Amino acid sequence: MPKLAINGGNPVTRESFPVWPVYGQPERENLLRAFDSGKWGSLHGTFVREFEEKFSRFSRVRHAVAVTNGSVALAIALKSSGIGPGDEVIIPGYTFIASAMSVLDALAKPVFADIDLETLNIDINSVEALINEHTKAIMPVHFAGRPADLIKIQSLAQKHGLAVVEDACQAWGSVFKGIPVGSKSEAACFSFQSSKNISSGEGGMIITDSGEVFEIAKSLGNCGRSEKGLWYAHYRYGGNYRMTEFQAAILIAQLERYPSLQSLREKNALELDRAISDMNGYRTLASLDKDSVSSWHIYPFMIDISQWEGITKVDIVDAVRAEGVPLSAGYSLPVYKQPVFTENNFGPGGGPQRCFNTDFPDFNKFSLPNTEKACSSEAVWITQNMLLSEKSGIENIIAALVKVFNNRDELRK
Ligand SMILES: Cc1ncc(COP(=O)(O)O)c(C=O)c1O
Repeated sequence: MPKLAINGGNPVTRESFPVWPVYGQPERENLLRAFDSGKWGSLHGTFVREFEEKFSRFSRVRHAVAVTNGSVALAIALKSSGIGPGDEVIIPGYTFIASAMSVLDALAKPVFADIDLETLNIDINSVEALINEHTKAIMPVHFAGRPADLIKIQSLAQKHGLAVVEDACQAWGSVFKGIPVGSKSEAACFSFQSSKNISSGEGGMIITDSGEVFEIAKSLGNCGRSEKGLWYAHYRYGGNYRMTEFQAAILIAQLERYPSLQSLREKNALELDRAISDMNGYRTLASLDKDSVSSWHIYPFMIDISQWEGITKVDIVDAVRAEGVPLSAGYSLPVYKQPVFTENNFGPGGGPQRCFNTDFPDFNKFSLPNTEKACSSEAVWITQNMLLSEKSGIENIIAALVKVFNNRDELRK
């Protein structure tokens, strides 16, 4: 009789995990207030301005600019920090495609650094080795909400005169050793897309302590206008990337909900950490540093593939999922192995590549060892909604992981 559910055995659980988004009366009331105001755009309404103020206070920085989504926020933040044609921006190979696309949107060249397998964040040694005369910025990604090492990144950036634009799209309120994300860099950007811990379906934010970056970002997101200029006067090459009042109305309520949901996610993430560090077949990432905070957008952990003797990550993930626990395989390809890069598919005439000083490498041959390992065989994710579970949900996750490892012989083909 097979034990594993994937082979016909009984699953660990048939209970469903919490669904996301969590929302209710406050979101509904705000949304109706925005609707009934008849002022649906931020040029006339008050919700976007209120959300910008609340989010900048929450992030402990001076300025915030609300935009349509996180991808646009990143491109605007790069451009506002002086990044443009001919520049190189160093980003990790393990991230969502938007980190790289935003660099291309700024007509700059993304250069891929490897990650540290203890944190899944950018590896500072790999970054340093890539710096040359064209390098203008580093874009650390606070993957899963875990803050990248902002002290080392800032010190390297200062040494070489580089800007730092943080992809904090998963890292609302994250802090590295007492440094809130975005507080020491040119800018940091956030996403409020459907899966995110603060969500309005779509939405983005740029935060900065720099008055200059703020002014440019505000202008680029508002058709190149200036606060002081005439309505039909356009001073910069920008676009309309303004957030709507409806998005901001929901986000104000979501931001209020955030602290209590974040502490539940944190409690459950630490519980998983304790359990997984005692298991065979898996390993946890390094513990967070003291005075650091993760948003826990994802609880990532690693498959200790050497203990599985030939069984693949995909087989393990499928087996855990069959037990009723929707474990995610995460990014299955490094960004530089996405077809857009391997097939050089950047649009007419090479698109932004026309602006590069040096060509891309042949991405079919390019490889970053830790990024490849994370994608193909080691990193797996528990998504944030699952971290909102009651005790029994977390126990089910633990039981499914243990069961699949103990019965791994059944996965051998
Ligand atoms: C790391 C990272 N960067 C950028 C983005 C882009 O954000 P958006 O989907 O709001 O454009 C996301 C979210 O999807 C993300 O996870």
